[in-house]
Amino acid sequence: MKRCLRLLAGILCMGTLAASLSGCGAGGNDHRQIIRIGHNQATDHPTNIALMAFEEYIESKLGDKYNVEVYPSELLGSQTDMVQLTQTGAIDFCVASNSILETFSENYTLFNLPYLFASADAYHMSMDDPAIVDPIFESTKQAGFEAVTWIDAGTRNFYTVSTPIESPADLKGLKIRVQQSPTNVEMMSLLGGSATPMGFGEVYTALQSKVIDGAENNEMALTSNGHGDVCKYYSYDMHQMIPDILIGNCAFLDELPEDERSIFEEGFRLVNTVEREEWVKAVEAAKDKAANEQGVTFLYPDTKPFQEICESMHAAMLEQYQDLSPIYSKIQEYNTQYPSEAE
Ligand code: GCU
Repeated sequence: MKRCLRLLAGILCMGTLAASLSGCGAGGNDHRQIIRIGHNQATDHPTNIALMAFEEYIESKLGDKYNVEVYPSELLGSQTDMVQLTQTGAIDFCVASNSILETFSENYTLFNLPYLFASADAYHMSMDDPAIVDPIFESTKQAGFEAVTWIDAGTRNFYTVSTPIESPADLKGLKIRVQQSPTNVEMMSLLGGSATPMGFGEVYTALQSKVIDGAENNEMALTSNGHGDVCKYYSYDMHQMIPDILIGNCAFLDELPEDERSIFEEGFRLVNTVEREEWVKAVEAAKDKAANEQGVTFLYPDTKPFQEICESMHAAMLEQYQDLSPIYSKIQEYNTQYPSEAE
């Protein structure tokens, strides 16, 4: 992390130096303003592909004014670091998991609830509904950032180095990495495992050195992050569908002239559509590679026992954050309309 922040300081210093020399963002005769976007995925990941499409689109429309730079692979630090950099305007945008955002605004707790969405369709319909997402996306404006679109990150499931997880009882005593969010720690504790919160970039080494017995994530973590080289069992308990969120610095967004703002809005929509198209293909390819090249066994346990254990978290959240109740009810309407395929 120190290395990342040093690198960031170097990048930003170079930018400042160039700006002070030329009165612009990019140095030399380039008078364009640099827009920096950070994320933690590899360059072949759907998130990066979508952000490259955003870069291309913005530069095709406003290329005389802006130079978009995408920094993948935690080059600008962990997601928590990047959210803070976006808050202060040191960078303009970053992609953060909804889990991480829970520590910045309690409203984000809602989308982290285990078994909140009954099916992928209910999840997609909910996340596409402004009545559901807008109150949450706008709730961090005072903190200096807002969400501009969501990104599909599939379904989160448990995977372990050597223990097949067929029921919650199998998690007992296992150290499982979770994201740094109170909801995830509580979920893991209820399910009987020992929650070990850590940043995404640390998980591979922790698995390899047996500091942890497993983790939970979508299938891409097996291949894109190499976790399938170490973990041989991936169990579809389907505990969460947690979106990633593209957030932007409010001062930057608010200062955009109206015509430019609508071009950026179109760019945000493009991030969402490109990523979702790429996601479907990437997950298929990841499953294939994990099973056939990394030797990962996929398990399909009965999800009910997992779900029943987590159920109490819904009522507790509604009790604690009563303002979220109408949004929760709208999600239930989609759940009724698009029930689980298992039912
Ligand atoms: C997924 C998600 C990331 C997140 C990661 C994690 O890969 O897309 O945003 O950082 O899980 O588990 O930390």
